[in-house]
Amino acid sequence: MSPSGTEPRVRQATADDLGRVVRVHVAAFPDFFMTQLGRRFLRAYYGMVLAHPRGILLVADTPDGVQGFVAGFADPGRFYTSMRVHAAHLAVRAIVGIMRRPCLWSRLLRTAQGVVRPRTVFTAAQDSCELASLGVSPTCAGRGLGQALVAAFMSVASGQGATHVYLTTAERDNDRVNRFYVRLGFVATGAYVSSGGESKVRYEAALPWSAPG
Ligand SMILES: CC(C)(COP(=O)(O)OP(=O)(O)OC[C@H]1O[C@@H](n2cnc3c(N)ncnc32)[C@H](O)[C@@H]1OP(=O)(O)O)[C@@H](O)C(=O)NCCC(=O)NCCS
Repeated sequence: MSPSGTEPRVRQATADDLGRVVRVHVAAFPDFFMTQLGRRFLRAYYGMVLAHPRGILLVADTPDGVQGFVAGFADPGRFYTSMRVHAAHLAVRAIVGIMRRPCLWSRLLRTAQGVVRPRTVFTAAQDSCELASLGVSPTCAGRGLGQALVAAFMSVASGQGATHVYLTTAERDNDRVNRFYVRLGFVATGAYVSSGGESKVRYEAALPWSAPG
């Protein structure tokens, strides 16, 4: 039982949930690059995850509504190919964010180059699954929603035939999140510097996965 006394219900997201996912994303990742690109961009991005044949988008329902989500995709190479195909669509949706902060433009170009010319982080085996984004409303942090979302994600990824799940997160000033993943059995398998110059750690966990005892 979670400390709040109420177990979250984790379920498959629908198109109706996209606005809720964007709301939680903005609250959970206030300073992140993708957030600065604006709500229209985020909606288009999570809409792509939902539409992707092997995309996974789950939400955590609580008595106060959707307060968490997890997004990712089995066969990440195919997802990034589809991002390249829809690059113009995504860029148009990022324009409002870029007009507000023109300095984002060069970062967007560097990120797009990373997608067009895949580097380590985008090179993934077909049987791997990327957990691309996990967010819980700050008002609900520490109540077990994050763990419930990861558990459901691992189960869906396994059902899709993936043999392991990987993710990346910031290395510095991010101890709680790094501890969170290590506690759930993820093992650090590498590090790299992102297009924004941030040090990132890559974690992996094998499937089938079971919650730590
Ligand atoms: C990381 C995150 C998903 C954890 O969700 P959660 O619902 O708070 O996690 P749980 O309740 O299942 O587990 C709590 C554990 O997570 C860790 N944690 C990470 N960030 C936390 C936060 N802001 N508040 C409370 N616990 C946090 C703690 O180690 C805590 O363990 P502890 O109770 O032993 O201290 C959530 O804090 C979040 O959305 N953070 C911002 C977005 C982010 O960085 N996402 C991960 C990178 S993709």
